[in-house]
Amino acid sequence: MPGGVRLRDWVYTQMLAEKATRVVATDLALGMLTLAKENITAANVTFQVEDCQQTSLPNESFDTAFLSLVLHFTVPERTLMEMHRLLRPGGALILVNLDPRALKGLDRLRCLIRIMYYGFTGYRVKPPKGFGKHVMSEQQLCELLAHSGFTVASTETIRDVSRSSHIPVEYIKAVKA
Ligand SMILES: C[S@@+](CC[C@H](N)C(=O)[O-])C[C@H]1O[C@@H](n2cnc3c(N)ncnc32)[C@H](O)[C@@H]1O
Repeated sequence: MPGGVRLRDWVYTQMLAEKATRVVATDLALGMLTLAKENITAANVTFQVEDCQQTSLPNESFDTAFLSLVLHFTVPERTLMEMHRLLRPGGALILVNLDPRALKGLDRLRCLIRIMYYGFTGYRVKPPKGFGKHVMSEQQLCELLAHSGFTVASTETIRDVSRSSHIPVEYIKAVKA
């Protein structure tokens, strides 16, 4: 993906709304949802503050769950267990995962420095406690998915080749077994 494309959460939500009958867009941060609300035009989207590790949503009520760049902020085992609870049998979980471990040596170091720099200057907040502890490689994530009752259906890694230290982003689709 030369040049780099920066997707925003509402872009994903808007795309999902075009495919689904109904979308429930959630985040722990009300500010994030407000931003999404201001940018989403689809009428079939509702917004709800939720902790994805323990939501108020009913059992087996979704065909698809989509989590972009969120899992590493949470205890992944808890989040995957919650997604398993929410999905109907055969339902799909789609994860977008950052994987700095796919980079080697100096490229990985440069990538981590850039994440810290943009985190501080862009968001102007300290990283949450334990940030980075739950970052997983694709293999670790696939193993955890298998332990959490999912079958991995496909994985795809997207890389911005314009800079060797750009962080690889994995799209993983898993199905509730
Ligand atoms: C890197 S941003 C990703 C935002 C968006 N999903 C995207 O792909 O552009 C991480 C988001 O995870 C949210 N988050 C962190 N912990 C969460 C949790 N336990 N439950 C729900 N959302 C959480 C944060 O509020 C933040 O909006």
